[in-house]
Amino acid sequence: MSSAHSAVVASALLRPVSFVQPRIEYGPGKARMLGEFVPDWADKRVLIVADAFNASRADLLGLPAQHHIFSKVRPEPDLPNLEQALDEARGFEPDVIVSFGGGSAMDLAKLVAVLMGSGKAFRDIVGVGKADPRNCTLIAIPTTAGTGSEVGARALVTDPASQAKSAADSRHMVADLAIVDPDLTLSLPAAVTAATGVDALAHCVESFTSRRAHPLIDIYARAGISLVGQYLKRAVADGNDVEARAGLAMAALYGGLCLGPVNTTAGHALSYPLGTRYGIPHGIANAVIFPHTLAFNAAAEASKTAEIADLMGFDDDLLESAYRYCADLGVEMHMSRLGVPAEALQSMAEEAHDIRRLLDFNPREMSVGDILGLYRAAY
Ligand SMILES: NC(=O)c1ccc[n+]([C@@H]2O[C@H](COP(=O)([O-])OP(=O)(O)OC[C@H]3O[C@@H](n4cnc5c(N)ncnc54)[C@H](O)[C@@H]3O)[C@@H](O)[C@H]2O)c1
Ligand SMILES: [Fe+2]
Repeated sequence: MSSAHSAVVASALLRPVSFVQPRIEYGPGKARMLGEFVPDWADKRVLIVADAFNASRADLLGLPAQHHIFSKVRPEPDLPNLEQALDEARGFEPDVIVSFGGGSAMDLAKLVAVLMGSGKAFRDIVGVGKADPRNCTLIAIPTTAGTGSEVGARALVTDPASQAKSAADSRHMVADLAIVDPDLTLSLPAAVTAATGVDALAHCVESFTSRRAHPLIDIYARAGISLVGQYLKRAVADGNDVEARAGLAMAALYGGLCLGPVNTTAGHALSYPLGTRYGIPHGIANAVIFPHTLAFNAAAEASKTAEIADLMGFDDDLLESAYRYCADLGVEMHMSRLGVPAEALQSMAEEAHDIRRLLDFNPREMSVGDILGLYRAAY
């Protein structure tokens, strides 16, 4: 190891970090045990926040008599979708809120939990540390293996006024309990498995190479990358491979643990306009961008990038092999074929460049021109 590298590592050890986590119950079959984890479960008023698919199988959770299911979570939720959920929550007055679904359901449930009994609106809590304490128990049960939102403090909603994703981040939005049951992901179609798996990978890779990267968190990032490298192809090839599903559920959890203390960088910043403007699902948007930002950043974080390549089985032509990896998972890797018009690239680049909360921590400076170049390469 060079002395320059040791100096970087040593100074990172001196950097403070804040790591807030829920209780985690991990394992196949754990979702059925939900009632055992909550004191006096039978007497609770329980609100389930779910997308239509998961709402239809909420009986898996053994709900008490007094429950209500909000079944209208939409993928990549927007403010009107949050308002709908809040209306139903205020009508029902739950003392426990359980999200049952992917990142979309988990993010909405976090916001419902902190906004339901507070005089604040979503726009008042955008940013860090602005939400009030909640007066209900919050439980997250992920059914995709991607976002890691089950262990995170952040929630993202698209604001129709700005057509941008706004993020609220508060320790009051960290769930009391996260139940990670890989069996719940067995029903995921291959395309969603692939996209959400690359999202988990991107969380780990971007946190690992961030300017804010921290030795306390690097260990989760490495573990997550290694699990994606071992299991994502397998789960896409055979959705019933229970070991691969477990590996990915754990990878997503590790990715989620990286997000709170460190968070993502350019990969996510560049992918957001694809989702907010053209409705491209978060994981697919990430996959389209992933090889390009990985290669762009490689020189700035050479040793960590070499570790990533090794864990993922990428060869020296990083761009080509990361691209091939995502394409072989069945992800459409051309923005042109995902409904993005060529004339939008310039304004998308400007929008992505403005996401300073992420780009300020990218290991390599990225100008609007650099971003436009990456978009064109991904077009
Ligand atoms: N809070 C965070 O830190 C964080 C991190 C990353 C992403 N996100 C957000 O999460 C959202 C994306 O979440 P996602 O990728 O998990 O997708 P999602 O929640 O939007 O779900 C995608 C689709 O899969 C379906 N689905 C979910 N589980 C299923 C299952 N087990 N079987 C069959 N179908 C199933 C859903 O009905 C939906 O149609 C975005 O809004 C993104 O911004 C949040
Ligand atoms: Fe993500």
